[in-house]
Amino acid sequence: MSMDDLKRQAAARALEQVRDGMRLGLGTGSTAKHFVELLGERVRGGLKVVGVPTSEATRADAERCSVPLKTLDDIERLDLTVDGADEIDPALNLIKGGGGALLREKIVAAASDRMIVIADDTKWVDTLGRFPLPIEVIPFGLGATRRAIEKVFSECGVSGQMDVRKGKDGLGFVTDGGHWILDARLGRIPDSPRLAMALASIPGVVEHGLFIGLASTAVLAGTNGIRIVERP
Ligand code: A5P
Repeated sequence: MSMDDLKRQAAARALEQVRDGMRLGLGTGSTAKHFVELLGERVRGGLKVVGVPTSEATRADAERCSVPLKTLDDIERLDLTVDGADEIDPALNLIKGGGGALLREKIVAAASDRMIVIADDTKWVDTLGRFPLPIEVIPFGLGATRRAIEKVFSECGVSGQMDVRKGKDGLGFVTDGGHWILDARLGRIPDSPRLAMALASIPGVVEHGLFIGLASTAVLAGTNGIRIVERP
């Protein structure tokens, strides 16, 4: 079974939680894309839902799959967001943003009553940090923002190389919001809630990829089957 099959299985299991009339947050990435495709099949079969996409890529996928879309200006709260993750720990804290959509992903997750994170089980870790932590920054004053981030790292007991993300064309990666991303290779983040709060207080940081206390359920697909983990 390929990794892609596992991702699709996780997406299919999350789809079982979707009911008629739901307002859904639609995540970004290869796993979330499976969810949008499977949701589209149900919509074409008569399921009535509306979705709020977390990126321009997901918007395009949802439109292609005939999933009706709205924005958070039209809808006050969402019933459920289904999204992928780069790492998931036992408290269901996450690293997200490998695809660069962390800002909209976090806004949508925070506007949702529930968030189901779907992934193949290689994303499960004891402690977050093996995956480089994406930090979305304003291009203006990058040097000052970097120094402030490094200070926060040292106060939170982490360190590692930090690079401006490059796109496939080799030029700087630009997010849907027009910002840049720093990827910080920290290896291990012993206190992710503390680091999350400290990073959020830096003026040039727009958002970071630590999702603390947002996911309620993880659906993890492995070669031995699917494991459901609820937030403790
Ligand atoms: C997008 O910005 C990310 O947060 C993705 O949700 C995350 O990178 C998982 O992507 P995959 O499902 O492609 O692994």
